Amino acid sequence: MSYDLVIIGGGPGGYNAAIRAGQLGLKTAIIESRGKLGGTCLNVGCIPSKALLHASEFYEAAAKTFPSMGVKITGLSLDLPQMLKQKEDAVDGLTKGVEFLMRKNKVDYVKGFGRIAGAGKVEVTGPDGAKHTLETKNILIATGSVPTPLPGIEIDEGRVVTSTGALSLNAVPGKMIVIGAGVIGLELGSVWRRLGSEVTVVEFLDKITPTMDDEISTAFQRTLKKQGMKFELGHKVTGVEKLDDGLVVTIEPAKGGQARTLEADVVLVAIGRKPFTEGLGLETVGVQTDARGFIPNDHFKTNVEGIYVIGDVTTGPMLAHKAEDEGIAAAQIIAGQWGHVNYDVIPNVIYTDPEVASVGKTEEELKAAGVEYKVGKFPMMANSRARANHETEGLVKVLEDVATKRVVGVHMVGTGVGEMIGEVCVAMEFGASAEDIARTCHAHPTMSEAIKEAAKGVDGWTMQA
Ligand code: FAD
Ligand code: NAI
Repeated sequence: MSYDLVIIGGGPGGYNAAIRAGQLGLKTAIIESRGKLGGTCLNVGCIPSKALLHASEFYEAAAKTFPSMGVKITGLSLDLPQMLKQKEDAVDGLTKGVEFLMRKNKVDYVKGFGRIAGAGKVEVTGPDGAKHTLETKNILIATGSVPTPLPGIEIDEGRVVTSTGALSLNAVPGKMIVIGAGVIGLELGSVWRRLGSEVTVVEFLDKITPTMDDEISTAFQRTLKKQGMKFELGHKVTGVEKLDDGLVVTIEPAKGGQARTLEADVVLVAIGRKPFTEGLGLETVGVQTDARGFIPNDHFKTNVEGIYVIGDVTTGPMLAHKAEDEGIAAAQIIAGQWGHVNYDVIPNVIYTDPEVASVGKTEEELKAAGVEYKVGKFPMMANSRARANHETEGLVKVLEDVATKRVVGVHMVGTGVGEMIGEVCVAMEFGASAEDIARTCHAHPTMSEAIKEAAKGVDGWTMQA
């Protein structure tokens, strides 16, 4: 069988590239080794984590927020097996949906592990160990990423876990230590805290979510602390001792100093993810990787003719929607069309409660680049819908470049801001000024009016605070 395109990896990068390639009439195959399509995102990432975040948010709200709104519940209790089952149901439904989309777009789904075996050849080792080779004009590498291990700390996915184990704990840990105050640590730490764990987050740097706008990061940390999450910033974990009745975690100041021990029932290691290219056969054709193992790209082309790369395994943010957009662009280029991703407008959302959403440059980045900018801000406390809903934590901040009069960054903390960021992305893609947003009619009463008020603030005419 000879293909126009063989895609290695069935995550959001690979499967979206496959759909688009199928739509454009390319004879396409997608190879996936985990037995299910959807990649990290659908199987052990975005979807199961959001299913648990959503359910645990209701559980906590039922106990803590409902009574103040006049909703009384007696006998509230946690059914953890059912909470885990509804998460698995969501995953199963979606992965089957992706399989259907492959059939709909005439893409061959090949189960097995793909290895580049020379120019235009991909060898597949099937689940039964049998090997066969696909011939193809183009290869798209979409093999994604895996958790970064912490040297000296053995992961068993039971007591010392990565995000994968943390999505399936069969009991609520009394004490959980999270290593790394990044997105995974704060989202999954929030899940287990809401269900009853005492959660302590150990972070090497002096701030949480280090790449985030400083003011937003500070506001976010204040909220998480108020919710009961504990932080050991500027600390590193140097060892985890496994005892029969618990774990002893040794931490010490990142800059050196006295070591201390903390007790835990579960330790979650969430210090980042690394590109996955093991066994991929890159050496057979000479595809280069950089010092950190990523496969660099120029408009999704690797250094080898006819071999393309997208998603977590290449450079840029490790996000499902970034992988998806790259997959679409790469498929279009392979089909002889144009393809482009605007890396200045890739939103970032942390799905805690309140959520954090941002797009574009932070104040710190603009300062470092010497860009003159104006700021408009609006507190959620002054938004009428937030007040009515008792969801007043957070703020919106809009940054405009003085020279171009374009919005170059928006950063928000607040309930539901993950949905609100879409409006800002559209505005930025259309080159909007803050005034364009400020003069666009927004429905009342909605949380999105906070964006409009913050945008007014850029030119000094915020009206409702
Ligand atoms: P992946 O999704 O990693 O898919 C790659 C696939 O390739 C895998 O299924 C793997 O089995 C397969 N594969 C690898 N090598 C081979 C081979 N040689 N042969 C055959 N198959 C192979 N991102 C968001 O945008 N929003 C979120 O809310 C979010 N939440 C997350 C929560 C968690 C807990 C985690 C871990 C990640 C989360 N992410 C989120 C990140 C997101 O999952 C990744 O950015 C995204 O999945 C990357 O897509 P990809 O297609 O590049 O790779
Ligand atoms: P991350 O890069 O977001 O955060 C890792 C954190 O660990 C950083 O704050 C870093 O300073 C810290 N760290 C590194 N080494 C350390 C050490 N030895 N000791 C203590 N702290 C240390 O990585 P994370 O949370 O593992 O997530 C991986 C990727 O998955 C992210 O790039 C993210 O884009 C993606 N993801 C996205 C989500 C979303 O969009 N909502 C949700 C979950 C994951």
